[in-house]
Amino acid sequence: MNILDFDRMKTNNSKISMVTCYDHWSAQLISQTEIDCILVGDSAAMVIHGHKTTLPATVEIMTQHIEAVARGANNKFIIGDMPFCSYRKGLVHTMQVVEKFMQAGSHAIKLEGADDNIQAIEHIVKSGIPVMGHLGLTPQSINALGGFKTQGKNNAAANKILAQAKSLEDAGCFATVLECIPSPLAQHITNELRIPTIGIGAGPHTSGQVLVLQDLLGLSPMHKPKFLKTYLSGFDLIKNALNQYNQEVKNAAFPLQEHCYEG
Ligand code: KIV
Repeated sequence: MNILDFDRMKTNNSKISMVTCYDHWSAQLISQTEIDCILVGDSAAMVIHGHKTTLPATVEIMTQHIEAVARGANNKFIIGDMPFCSYRKGLVHTMQVVEKFMQAGSHAIKLEGADDNIQAIEHIVKSGIPVMGHLGLTPQSINALGGFKTQGKNNAAANKILAQAKSLEDAGCFATVLECIPSPLAQHITNELRIPTIGIGAGPHTSGQVLVLQDLLGLSPMHKPKFLKTYLSGFDLIKNALNQYNQEVKNAAFPLQEHCYEG
């Protein structure tokens, strides 16, 4: 997939699949699948580093994740997620971060919100760098939103998200994430936009879906939002494998002759 495919897939009504990825090993795995594109999300702060929010993700941490993913992702389209405040310190600083992310191996960047970010988005787009938007539940604003809550539930809030989505499209974004908004609102926004929408907790009518890799593989059983479908009981499978290894070490059932070098 390349940047032109986002437009083509929206036009052809072909759904876009995206997963998060933070490391080289997972990137190699995803590169062998038919998943369309990879988001190196700032959710790394929570999923990989164990924080309660995405706020502790830094430019340095995200750059390292992007580099690791890019070394394993082969031909996949990679979107690097601009972390908390990294695009709110003026255009020069914003472009320094964008430069780092693109040099680390991103093919596009993503940032949260619209409104005051529009000028920065236009500048990034005019610099030849594709920008993905992110509306609805924007986790970097968790303190202003009062928690991880569904957004756009009343008319005024829904109209605001629609207007923001149109402003992202006008600013040149090639797609936007819609996170945790009611399904009819996501459908309406998707119908109103030329660019594709990628939903998470936004129902089935968006142009595509994104899930956190560890969530969809059932590797984080403590985290089960309503919108999540798990495709594997990864946590239990891996736990069982580790316990089996432990048992075999204790019983001297591993290693066997076939695992030994001849003298
Ligand atoms: O960081 C992330 O994983 C994201 C997705 C939830 C869209 O922004």
